[in-house]
Amino acid sequence: MARLLLLLPSSTYRALDFVSAARRLNVELVVASEQPQALSGLMDDRALVLDPRRPREAMEAVTALARRRPVDAVVAVDDQGVELAARVAQELGVSHNPVAAVAATRHKGVMRQTLGRAQVPQPEWRLLEPDQDASAAAGLVRELAPPCVIKPVSLSASQGVIRVDDPGSAPGVAQRVRAIARAAGQGDGPLLVERYVPGPELAVEALLRGGELHVLAVFDKPDPLTGPYFEETIYVTPSRLGAPVLEAVDRCVAQAASALGLSGGPVHAELRAGERGPVMIEVAARSIGGLCSRALRFGLGMSLEEVILRHALGLPLAGLVREAAASGVMMLPIPEAGTLVAVRGQAAARAVPGIAGLEITIPRGRPVLPLPEGDRYLGFVFARAATPEAVEEALREAHACLRLDIRAAA
Ligand SMILES: Nc1ncnc2c1ncn2[C@@H]1O[C@H](COP(=O)(O)OP(=O)(O)O)[C@@H](O)[C@H]1O
Ligand SMILES: [Mg+2]
Repeated sequence: MARLLLLLPSSTYRALDFVSAARRLNVELVVASEQPQALSGLMDDRALVLDPRRPREAMEAVTALARRRPVDAVVAVDDQGVELAARVAQELGVSHNPVAAVAATRHKGVMRQTLGRAQVPQPEWRLLEPDQDASAAAGLVRELAPPCVIKPVSLSASQGVIRVDDPGSAPGVAQRVRAIARAAGQGDGPLLVERYVPGPELAVEALLRGGELHVLAVFDKPDPLTGPYFEETIYVTPSRLGAPVLEAVDRCVAQAASALGLSGGPVHAELRAGERGPVMIEVAARSIGGLCSRALRFGLGMSLEEVILRHALGLPLAGLVREAAASGVMMLPIPEAGTLVAVRGQAAARAVPGIAGLEITIPRGRPVLPLPEGDRYLGFVFARAATPEAVEEALREAHACLRLDIRAAA
């Protein structure tokens, strides 16, 4: 029986999807996580709790576990674990992306530098270094010419990403982004200041095999993402953009992955379709976040998690073609801060034709916080239909059925 080491971050929604993929493949999982809850039900010698504040000890503990229970592959579920997974795999001599390549995807400044050297199309950018006063952001925005975007170098889910329309407002925004990054445990890292790229946004889900990029799905994001905050909502695949644009998008992602030195495993990229071709917003060495992977099915119903495990273990992956139907997911935004009392109208939302699922991922009674300070969505709605238009319509109709009861913070 093949054995695979899975690194589960504390915040993941995807433990179940990976566990059921492993079951289908008859693969034994050894799991390491920052939170004991994520490991409940697993036997002691197959589970390990990590302290993320001590990366070196975490690395040693995971490697020791994998030596006790030798593994054939190491897979990180999310961004937080990809670098540790690469290091552990290197230590164990198990095939994986180079550590430096993965590390570059985890620091947006290093990513920009690496992509720039390879001339991958991307926005113009500058770094606001930790020792620079926030007032220096005004000059950077002036140099780049507004509108710009200021963001932390290592957060995700649009947390702390804010548009700036004039140099005068840049220092205040920089201060706010620094506070968000600090509260998220990023310490005093640099901030990235980028030229704002107009145009529709796309997300690309792909798998690298032996250095070659296989695009699994391209999602349109039909809600305009113009800021000042960049709340993600609807993703629909297949994309409605024309074949020449999509071919250029595939090439741009392949070029970026190769520039970064990524060689195997899932890739999630975000691009804007600019007037002069695709522009890379970011590339990650992981699969799509949240529960969004549930919008994808391959071949005769294979999940993205199964694709990832199969790839990691070198199992056959013939016919990696997404199902014929159009499919989509809506990340449910959090409109205001407070305490979640209830999400009403769920039955009506589920009854909308085309709706394939609805998951509210924040329990009642928990605090909720909108972007840019917030770091999670309220939940996910899924739809399947004959066309992308019908999927988008179903998602909007289902969303309109939901009524949020959020008690305002005192
Ligand atoms: N330079 C940019 N131009 C236009 N939009 C941007 C730019 N940078 C970020 N955004 C918007 O903000 C979102 C989040 O930024 P991103 O760099 O992907 O950070 P995160 O890791 O939080 O997802 C993007 O999906 C995009 O909509
Ligand atoms: Mg992003």
